[in-house]
Amino acid sequence: MSTTNNWKTTSLDILKQGTVVPVLVFKKLEHALPVSEALLEGGVKVLEVTLRTECALDAIELLANKLPEAVTGAGTIINADQYRAVESAGGQFGISPGLTPALLQAANQGTMPLIPGIASISEMMTGIEHGLDCFKFFPAEAAGGVPMLKSIAGPCPQITFCPTGGINPDNYKNYLALPNVACVGGSWLVPQDAVEAGDWKRITQIAKAAVEGAKG
Ligand code: 3PG
Repeated sequence: MSTTNNWKTTSLDILKQGTVVPVLVFKKLEHALPVSEALLEGGVKVLEVTLRTECALDAIELLANKLPEAVTGAGTIINADQYRAVESAGGQFGISPGLTPALLQAANQGTMPLIPGIASISEMMTGIEHGLDCFKFFPAEAAGGVPMLKSIAGPCPQITFCPTGGINPDNYKNYLALPNVACVGGSWLVPQDAVEAGDWKRITQIAKAAVEGAKG
């Protein structure tokens, strides 16, 4: 087990670059650029493109090449091969819903920060054993929400989180108010109906409102 890595940047640096991180599900490659440009216009620059659709890796490659001002990474990485594929596509970070020893090992051998998901103290401790100090907390609302993160801060104040799963405009500020939360993630930032309708203005408006609200 290795506790060092060769990452080009730290997970914390990634998380600190955006207080709200859209969980993006691109069903069509042609949506990737206009949606991301709309988000950038709204002040959102960290983009989590989930590997749930066929065009996801192509979308990551496209965004990495065309939008250098964005920080483009992948979500829903569930195995080591996917981690390496995202790295090859030019992704700047990887997010996974959970963690496995094989995935953690691949990340320690790679150059791209991995922010794995945890929903329990033991999973977090496994990640810490692999040298990690930043995690996605998933599924945030179902796994204990704000009270759970407050409780974790007691024994482990050095650990930073990006809660995701059930985050919405009504509750995201409660998470961001916690000292161990750097940012929140969610699909609410990019509604599928707005994407299907090509309503990029609405996406910019939602992003702007979320970024402004995050300032407190
Ligand atoms: C994720 O992949 O992080 C979650 O599916 C996003 O959850 P949400 O749809 O509740 O925001």
